[in-house]
Amino acid sequence: MTSIALITGANKGIGYEIARGLGAAGYTVLVGARDGARGASAVDSLTSAGFDAHLVQLDVTDPASVAAAAKHIEHAYAHLDVLVNNAGIARPDGDDRALDPAAWAPSGQSLDSIRAVFEVNVFGLISVTNAMLPLIRRAPAGRIVNVASEVGSFALTLDQSSPYWSLVSLGYPVSKTAVNMITAQYAKELWDTPIKVNSVCPGYTATDLNGMSGFKTPEEGARVAVRLAQIGADGPTAQFFNEAGPLPW
Ligand SMILES: NC(=O)c1ccc[n+]([C@@H]2O[C@H](COP(=O)([O-])OP(=O)(O)OC[C@H]3O[C@@H](n4cnc5c(N)ncnc54)[C@H](OP(=O)(O)O)[C@@H]3O)[C@@H](O)[C@H]2O)c1
Repeated sequence: MTSIALITGANKGIGYEIARGLGAAGYTVLVGARDGARGASAVDSLTSAGFDAHLVQLDVTDPASVAAAAKHIEHAYAHLDVLVNNAGIARPDGDDRALDPAAWAPSGQSLDSIRAVFEVNVFGLISVTNAMLPLIRRAPAGRIVNVASEVGSFALTLDQSSPYWSLVSLGYPVSKTAVNMITAQYAKELWDTPIKVNSVCPGYTATDLNGMSGFKTPEEGARVAVRLAQIGADGPTAQFFNEAGPLPW
């Protein structure tokens, strides 16, 4: 039986490369994309490269879209082996300073801007996970990989020798800390099942998220998620990894 993997936000960047990596490993990849045309173009590229890829239109912030995606996967495949919660956004700090001086947080983001980040990175991730969980429970060995970030690590952000010490920001890093706690909570809930739930950090990767300023290629950034999606029964759960190994929470 072919294994089925859904990757959210897979039309570009790291998500696209996660889809390519899992396609190369023999998975049927479901390319989650909020925009049908952008998603179809990603599916075309993956199909042309010889992979079994299909579009699943999915805006993680839209409950109707999430429910329709789960229904479609149930009808087409009856189960889901791998869910990679990759879709994410960042809003540059300082951008909202001019808008409403009374409403911005210390990092220069307005509460509205921080809420927008949480809608995708946190609430969207929970919404998709809850919708897909019944299908993942039907798989023999379900895997959930949440794409977090080192900037959400308490240990690294409070380490004065870490590059993250100088980062003071309330939107994106806080959302990724929440992603890590969400990983822990689902992993505990699913402790006595074959399902494993882990967080990964791709590393600083050149994508639209950071104006292509990252050091790694999207293919390199995708590697850790591709690996964690395929761990065996003796693999970890409730842990946080980058490409080099385990990360502190
Ligand atoms: N790049 C880095 O250095 C880095 C480092 C650590 C962690 N990460 C994480 O890696 C993940 C992928 O980011 P990336 O760097 O590859 O950025 P990216 O190139 O901007 O890709 C983000 C993806 O998320 C999708 N997305 C955004 N909002 C969505 C929504 N409401 N519903 C569904 N999809 C949505 C985007 O779709 P559209 O094309 O429609 O906008 C796009 O496919 C994110 O979770 C990010 O936080 C990135």
